[in-house]
Amino acid sequence: MTDISPNEGNHKAVETKLGYSPVADIPHRLRAADTDPKAAKRAERQIASMFLLSMLFVVLFIVAYIAIDTTTTVYIPVMGDVGASQVALGFTLAAAIFLIGAGAIQWAKKLMPDVEVVQQRHDQVSPGSATREAEANYERGKDESGFARYKMIRRTLIGALVLFPIPLVVLLKDLWVPTKAEQGESPADILSTTMWTKDTRIVSDGTYAPVRPEDLPVGGLISGVPADLVEVEEIEGNLNARGKAAIILVRMQPDEIRSQQGDGWDYQGIVAYSKICTHVGCPIALYEQRTHHLLCPCHQSTFDLADSGEVVFGPAARRMPQLPIGVDSEGYLVAKSDFAEPVGPSFWERG
Ligand code: FES
Repeated sequence: MTDISPNEGNHKAVETKLGYSPVADIPHRLRAADTDPKAAKRAERQIASMFLLSMLFVVLFIVAYIAIDTTTTVYIPVMGDVGASQVALGFTLAAAIFLIGAGAIQWAKKLMPDVEVVQQRHDQVSPGSATREAEANYERGKDESGFARYKMIRRTLIGALVLFPIPLVVLLKDLWVPTKAEQGESPADILSTTMWTKDTRIVSDGTYAPVRPEDLPVGGLISGVPADLVEVEEIEGNLNARGKAAIILVRMQPDEIRSQQGDGWDYQGIVAYSKICTHVGCPIALYEQRTHHLLCPCHQSTFDLADSGEVVFGPAARRMPQLPIGVDSEGYLVAKSDFAEPVGPSFWERG
């Protein structure tokens, strides 16, 4: 009686049952796991360990997400100081994905049948007998892949695949918006307070040079931020401030302004509005001088800056918040107060 290992049996099955022809000029070399049951067991344990490690990295991902403060930094050569949380989350998620892939490759290389075969192409429409044969082949392939036979691999792979989506669910937490009860403030409250206060100088976004009225010709536009924004961003690491405080300055003839949100909001035809669309928060700077319309590139909401920033087209439900401006004793443009209404997207109104 001939002694053949399970995988040798698989090779013969490919030749005889599937109706394929082995590639004649490629000699098949048996692998260690094909002939040595101990080597096959070793390979099974090695592959299962990869899937187990993948599960471990998913758990570490969740631990890192909960335990590491988002402001903590770590030094990495070449990259410098980077967020420790980002590094830990990226590394653990990448390791979890890599180990599932590496385990699958090792399984295919070491334990699944590796005989080379060719199959002739036939007509596109298969007869019933071919369909039945394909079904039988599928069942046979399932057996030959070892998915049923290698229980340890099957269980650890299923475990790894079940745990793997958890990081994606955990990350959904970042979409959470604090409720009034949880935070003490509603989202509208949070978006109502920005860095702008009385006499805060307006500086150009990018050069951070203070802006004088004469820097802005009629029809011109400047993106502006509060003068102390750089300090807040660099020292306090607060990047949210920019999102709330960014503005655009445009200049038109004073008699072109049809209405504003009260008296004294412009300075000699210069008006300042939030730069963040009130639809879902895209930054806007597409300004048409002739119509005084501001167009959002995301979903085409259009605001009339000569008419209090009112919506004239598109999905935005709120006008652009306007910033009242004047000049200080040195002739630089300054804010007269904060915005009178919340800046940014309006999803919070749907509560
Ligand atoms: S974000 Fe501006 S129109 Fe949607």
